[in-house]
Amino acid sequence: MELYLAPMEGITGYIYRNALKDLFGDHFRKYFTAFITPRPKAGMRSKERNDMHPDNNKGITLVPQIMSRDAEEFLSLAHEIRADFGYEEINLNCGCPSGTVVSHGRGSGMLKDPEYLDRFLFEVFEKTEVKISVKTRIGVTDPDEWSQLLEIYKKYPLSELIIHPRVQKQGYGGKIWKECFEMAADAPFRVIYNGDIKTTEDLKCLSDTLMIGRGVIADPSLGRQIYGGVKASAEELKAFHDRIFSEYEALFDGPQPLISHMKELWSYMCINFPGKEKEFKALKKARNLAEYKAAIRGVFYAAV
Ligand SMILES: Cc1cc2nc3c(=O)[nH]c(=O)nc-3n(C[C@H](O)[C@H](O)[C@H](O)COP(=O)(O)O)c2cc1C
Repeated sequence: MELYLAPMEGITGYIYRNALKDLFGDHFRKYFTAFITPRPKAGMRSKERNDMHPDNNKGITLVPQIMSRDAEEFLSLAHEIRADFGYEEINLNCGCPSGTVVSHGRGSGMLKDPEYLDRFLFEVFEKTEVKISVKTRIGVTDPDEWSQLLEIYKKYPLSELIIHPRVQKQGYGGKIWKECFEMAADAPFRVIYNGDIKTTEDLKCLSDTLMIGRGVIADPSLGRQIYGGVKASAEELKAFHDRIFSEYEALFDGPQPLISHMKELWSYMCINFPGKEKEFKALKKARNLAEYKAAIRGVFYAAV
């Protein structure tokens, strides 16, 4: 079995990827950038360039992800990424459920109009110089949309299809439509399952390769546990926290982005510290570094 780390905007950037690999082991066969959108005039943002720069991803197999509904712009950015950084595979985002993204017909908004999706893929595969994989949902409002969408994907030589078997309207909660994932079993490309894997119990051999997001963010030792290793100790979680904190501190301009990024991480990692509800309440309220550090001391007090 192989594992992929799911892209999570604001969380799984290069600092996180490297810390995860260095401190919990090299268990992920592929990592993905959060989506980037083409900016034909302005070009890529320096933050996006830094995140995918090979110097920041040594020993990591990274797949840059693009979100776009314009085939020309998609291709032009994909080819720029290959020319500048050497990446041979690009992932297309057909899964993002955010209202603003979908209203512009991007992300899972691409699934609203199957004919348009078909034309987009036709144009892309006619001209692409790189491998294209897709990360998709199974529809917008109803899982019945999936069979038509799947037939469209099957027409193209995708390098792989990552399926989060929920519809856009569900966001990141509610029923997982496993039967829709199973419908893709005879697809002519590799199919990868993504969604709600939180413990080693949840594996149940859904596919040979699994993509995991929130489960790893909550417990960074999940990859190691899946390969038979032990759960993270409090000492390990502290070392992981301290490394990410100090690298973010050097990266961000002021304390506010640092604190908000760390709070987001803790909104997942808090599950490792039962009985520390009071400390996490203080952490949520922390407005400056002194308050943040005091709350963190409370979280780790008597645990390490
Ligand atoms: C905060 C957040 C940010 C995300 N950012 C992205 C993204 O940039 N690109 C993408 O394809 N999916 C993104 N996702 C979706 C995840 O990659 C994944 O599909 C989803 O969390 C379901 O998998 P999980 O249950 O293992 O977390 C994001 C999800 C969350 C919660």
